Amino acid sequence: MRASFGLGLVVVAVASTAFAHKPTVTTFTYNHDIFPIFEAKCGSCHRSGGVAPMSLLTYKEAFPWGVSIKNEVLDLAMPPWFADERYGEFKHGAGLSAKEMDTIVDWCLGGSPEGETPVGTSPSSYVNWPLGEPELILMMPSPMVLDAATSETIQELTFETGLAEPVYLRALDFQPGAPNIVRSATITIRFGGRKQTIATWIPGQTPEALPEGRGRLIPVEAEVGLELHYKKTWLDEGSSVEDRSAVAIYLHDEDPGQLVETVEVTSTSAHTLEADAELVALLPRVDGDIEAVVAEVVRPDGSRERLLRLYHPNSEWPRKYWLVKPIALPAGSRVEVTATAPEGATPVVLVDLIS
Ligand code: HEC
Repeated sequence: MRASFGLGLVVVAVASTAFAHKPTVTTFTYNHDIFPIFEAKCGSCHRSGGVAPMSLLTYKEAFPWGVSIKNEVLDLAMPPWFADERYGEFKHGAGLSAKEMDTIVDWCLGGSPEGETPVGTSPSSYVNWPLGEPELILMMPSPMVLDAATSETIQELTFETGLAEPVYLRALDFQPGAPNIVRSATITIRFGGRKQTIATWIPGQTPEALPEGRGRLIPVEAEVGLELHYKKTWLDEGSSVEDRSAVAIYLHDEDPGQLVETVEVTSTSAHTLEADAELVALLPRVDGDIEAVVAEVVRPDGSRERLLRLYHPNSEWPRKYWLVKPIALPAGSRVEVTATAPEGATPVVLVDLIS
C-alpha cells in the first residue's frame, strides 16, 4: 500500500512538472495538422461510442495520449493495417504514410499544441450502407447480450437464407448494432459440407463490391454464418451491453457470367491454377504471434511476384486486401504463402480468383 502510494506521488509530481515546463518545439498543431489525420485514420474506432477506449477527435481527449500514440504509431500497431507498403497496391489503404507518421510523432514529442483556429473538431458522421440499399438484410434474430461479468467473447450464428433459387453475390457489408463492443465480424457461407470465409469487417472499413460482371454464386442450400468478436473497453466494464448487428447482401439481377471462387493457401499447400484467372483480393487469417506472412505468385515462366506482405499482423483485426488492379494469371501459375511464425501457427491466405 505504502509503496504504491509513494509511487503515485512521484508520478504525479513528475507529470505536473513536465507538463508545466514542456516546451512547444513543433510547428504542427492538433487543429491544423493532427485532427485531419486522426479523423481519417483513427476516428472510425477512436470516437465517442466507438470500439476503442478513447476518442481522439477532440484536442482535450487526444493530447493526454501523446506518449502512447507515439509508441503505437512507431510500433506500427495503430492503426491496424499490416500490409507492407512495398508490395501490392490495395484499395482503401488504412495505414499511415511516412509523412503522417512523422507529423504525429513530431506533435507528440514537441509539446502537443492545440493551435489557434479550431477546424472541424466535431466528430464526423459515418454513412450507413455506403454501397446503397442492399437487396437483403440479415438481421440477428435476437440481441446478443454481453452481460456485466463478460468482457470478451466470440459468438457464431447462422442465417438460413430461404432462397428459392441460386443468387449471385455482388457485395457484402456489415453494420454493428453496438459499435462500442463489436470489434470484428467474419462472414462465411456453408454448403456441401464446406464452410468458407468470404468477408470480414472491422470498424471503419469501406465495403467493396466485386468488379462489374463478376459475382459469387450462392446456392439455394447455402447458409450464411456470422462470427462476431465482442470486446468491451474499460468504459463498459461491469455493465451489460446488447448488440443486434446486421449483414447486408448485394445481389446481381442475373448470372453475371464470371464467378469468383475462394481458394485457401498455406505455407504447406500452394494453389496451382487450372485455368486462366484474375486475382482480385486476399484475406489472410492469422493466429498467434506471427512476424510476417507473404503471398506470392509464380507464373509458368518461373517469374515470381510478391502480392502481399503482412508485418506483425494482429489476429484481432482481420481484413480483406482488395487489389487496386486485379492481376491476370495464366493457367499453371502457383500462389504460394510463406510465414515467419512460431511452430504451430499456420496462417492461411484466402485468395479470391475469377475465372
Ligand atoms: C479499427 C479500429 C481502430 C483504429 C482505426 C485505430 N485504433 Fe487505436 N485502438 C483501437 C482499440 C480497440 C484499442 C484498444 C486496445 C486494444 O484492445 O487493442 C486501441 C488502442 C490504441 C492506443 C493505446 C491506448 C492505450 O491503452 O494505451 C493508442 C495510443 C491508439 N489506439 C492510437 C491510435 C491512433 C493514433 C490511430 C490512428 C492513427 C488508431 N489508434 C487507429 C482501435 C483502433
